[in-house]
Amino acid sequence: MRITVIGTGYLGATHAACMAELGFEVLGLDIDPTRVASLSEGLLPFHEPDLPALLQKHVKSGRLRFTTSYQEAGAWGDVHFIGVGTPQRAGEGAADMSYVDSATISLARNITKDALIVGKSTVPVGTTRRLKNLVRDNKRPGVKVNVAWNPEFLREGFAVVDTLTPDRLVIGVDSPEDEAVLRKVYATALAGGVPLISTDFETAELVKVAANAFLATKISFINAFSEVTEVIGGDITTLADAIGLDARIGRRFLNAGIGFGGGCLPKDIRALQARAAELGVDHSMRFLDEMDGINLRRRERTVDLAREMLGSLSQSRIAILGVAFKPNSDDVRDSPALDIANRLFDEGAEVSIFDPAGNLNASRRSPQHHYVSSTEDAVREADLILLLTEWDEFKALTPEGLSVQTGTRKIIDGRNILRPQVWADSGWSVGSLGRRYVADQAIEGTPSEQLQMSSSPAP
Ligand code: UGA
Repeated sequence: MRITVIGTGYLGATHAACMAELGFEVLGLDIDPTRVASLSEGLLPFHEPDLPALLQKHVKSGRLRFTTSYQEAGAWGDVHFIGVGTPQRAGEGAADMSYVDSATISLARNITKDALIVGKSTVPVGTTRRLKNLVRDNKRPGVKVNVAWNPEFLREGFAVVDTLTPDRLVIGVDSPEDEAVLRKVYATALAGGVPLISTDFETAELVKVAANAFLATKISFINAFSEVTEVIGGDITTLADAIGLDARIGRRFLNAGIGFGGGCLPKDIRALQARAAELGVDHSMRFLDEMDGINLRRRERTVDLAREMLGSLSQSRIAILGVAFKPNSDDVRDSPALDIANRLFDEGAEVSIFDPAGNLNASRRSPQHHYVSSTEDAVREADLILLLTEWDEFKALTPEGLSVQTGTRKIIDGRNILRPQVWADSGWSVGSLGRRYVADQAIEGTPSEQLQMSSSPAP
């Protein structure tokens, strides 16, 4: 079985390399010739752990090739996966479907033998049925081309492991033959016991957006409690640990901090609301507007906290550690860290940024900041340090180590990864998201309040 993968971003490039790893002959297609040239040489144009090795292995073995030609892909493949982007439309919540639509039409026009098109992109419910009609209207006569949906649940940073050993497979099909084809594609995972949910198109499409909406809600839920603990006192991480021990709730995705970003969660909850409104059930998804609001308020709160700790942001020097939307990624799409950097700059701060992988992408979007290549360079002249992405090397920072590199003793832990008391004991002021910030001069109140404050992060 020959497999093509249309679109070679985080999703498509990973899927193509993993399909080759599973033993298939694979042709990846992208309309960007520079990307195709780079991938053809085995060079991955973005950061994704484990993927470069897999890419090189299969480019070398000849099992994985890349092209810009739909004619080549359409004549060659038996199963065509579509993994192009569905970004948020400018100025609206809805998804921009132009890449999916044009990929589908281009494929349909060029397919010369019976084939199955399998969508993997995250799409508004109803898309598969619509694309089936597009295919019917554009395919060559005498050729049988069907459409199925197979949402992808991989996380950036873990894309290879998530693709090779997924926790579930979901397929939306309208014929047993198409299900049989997909069972063959995923035979290795199925033999390993991975559950397969075979369902209709609409359910398959909705599974994906429902999963992302649930994850976004979980993060915003804990961040909503952050807003409460910041006012009354208490420790959000302990709260998350305690409720997370209830197996019905679970501890994962309960890390409070500057909130969620990236190319998926934020735009998916907006697209879901937009689609619900089109379907006349906007009230059902209205709560997601609140989740979005809680999430964005975390960014504002971080800027407020920086202002509180410095007195004024104007002419202040701020070091930002971590600008990717999450660790092990160079992706800065809707990155909360970059948004915070931009807001600080707009209020007159000079911002130095160090991210182990995200500097280049961030500098393309926000060239106004200084991008440096080490923690030491970022913090040297800083008045305040903001730790915004939890890369391992930032998790390993110690107050003693950092004190040698900088004169400031002020840090904001935007991901709740430092042990605030340890830093406070070394003379640092630690601002946290979800723990009350108490400045030296502000310690006042009843003895019991003082006691509570002294056990809270900041001195
Ligand atoms: C997300 C989903 O987790 C994947 O299952 C899905 O396949 C993917 O979107 C997609 O639709 O393609 P991803 O965008 O790679 O994956 O990132 P996540 O690991 O979900 O993290 C999203 C954001 O939430 C990050 O900014 C992260 O820092 C933040 N987050 C995560 C928190 O703030 N707290 C947490 O407890 C967990």
